[in-house]
Amino acid sequence: MTQDPISAATSVDDRLMLPFDETVRVRRSYRDFLAEPLPNAVIREVLLDAQHAPSNCNTQPWNMHIVSGAKRDDLSKALHEANVAGRLTPDFSWDEGGFEGRYDERRREQGAIYYRNLGVARDDRESRAKASGVNFSFFNAPHVALLFMPVVGDSVRVAGDLGMYGQTFLLALAARGLGGVPQTVLGLYAQTVRDVLGVSQDLKLLYGISFGYPDEAASANRVRMGRDELARSVTFHS
Ligand SMILES: Cc1cc2nc3c(=O)[nH]c(=O)nc-3n(C[C@H](O)[C@H](O)[C@H](O)COP(=O)(O)O)c2cc1C
Repeated sequence: MTQDPISAATSVDDRLMLPFDETVRVRRSYRDFLAEPLPNAVIREVLLDAQHAPSNCNTQPWNMHIVSGAKRDDLSKALHEANVAGRLTPDFSWDEGGFEGRYDERRREQGAIYYRNLGVARDDRESRAKASGVNFSFFNAPHVALLFMPVVGDSVRVAGDLGMYGQTFLLALAARGLGGVPQTVLGLYAQTVRDVLGVSQDLKLLYGISFGYPDEAASANRVRMGRDELARSVTFHS
């Protein structure tokens, strides 16, 4: 945790970025990556972009831990062990079954598309568990970001700020032809992550983002999730 190769990295001229409309449409959740790590200077530029995210009263409550190299491997091993042992220690609940109506329809559709692409049958619990386990290998990404936050009241506003930050981080990656995948599942093992990284108890883990160079040829990256029509999400008043 003491090493900081990222801040020390000299800046890179990475102005050759995608325009906004392309960036926002090209971004998607990648679930397979090349082993080659990103240059520290590039990670720094992405983090500098993410730092511009808005937050309630400009509190900037995000506490970002970037994990690479041997520490990444240690964390992956600890998470796999915790997963196999069923040692869940979430800081925040995740009630997957709590969605109703169209939210539940979308959730089910995402699961169906995801597992169909992997060739896993709906009732094949063992294969589904194996497929889900790849989350703890960070989908082979060389880097994983863990997004921690302080507890303030019921934490909903702070979590909103971390969502803003995470999306800015993901778009900063996408604009450079890089990729990431947000992972709530990493947050379900918050204490394991805190222990491996030496993070204090007062910081709570909301989610992680595995990131790197996406493996565009990988079958796991064939999936494109659609979006509902505007009228089902937006109501206009005048
Ligand atoms: C906060 C958050 C947490 C997520 N957690 C996971 C996760 O744990 N594992 C995973 O494979 N995908 C996860 N996803 C990715 C979603 O499944 C994905 O964003 C959604 O299906 C839309 O697809 P797209 O990102 O490719 O557009 C998460 C997304 C968000 C925003």
